[in-house]
Amino acid sequence: MTTPSGLRTMLSGLLGAALLLSTLAFAQKVEPTPENLSKGQAIYKKHCQMCHGVNGVGDGPAGKRLNPKPYNLTDKEKMAGETDEHLFKNITKGKGPMPAFQRKLKEPERWMVLHYVRTFSK
Ligand code: HEC
Repeated sequence: MTTPSGLRTMLSGLLGAALLLSTLAFAQKVEPTPENLSKGQAIYKKHCQMCHGVNGVGDGPAGKRLNPKPYNLTDKEKMAGETDEHLFKNITKGKGPMPAFQRKLKEPERWMVLHYVRTFSK
């Protein structure tokens, strides 16, 4: 028979495990190290460049006929005004004609490519 205090211990153990798991789920944000930036660049070339262009101005061949146009990632004022979390969410879920990357890219990869596109406005 489980005593009430044994039950409490068990429950707090479960709660602890749940907390740990949710922390891990959010701990996938990677830092913009040179290695991660170069991985981000490779991801950009493969998944983003056709719309956003080689230099991020939004002139990629697949972006020309889109409405609205692909975001100009070199726009310093706009980019500085957007938080990482906001941009990450739109890369994850998609926005307008931009597809979602939730399934195509793993979470750390989405952070890598976000860090890379930030270099266009630096
Ligand atoms: C099919 C073309 C297309 C592809 C591929 C694409 N984008 Fe976009 N992207 C767009 C368009 C169009 C918008 C503007 C959407 C709008 O304003 O409603 C946009 C907007 C954005 C924005 C601004 C979001 C905001 O908060 O306003 C970012 C950042 C971005 N794209 C990054 C990326 C990255 C990183 C990739 C590759 C992983 C990518 N895009 C791939 C077309 C594309």
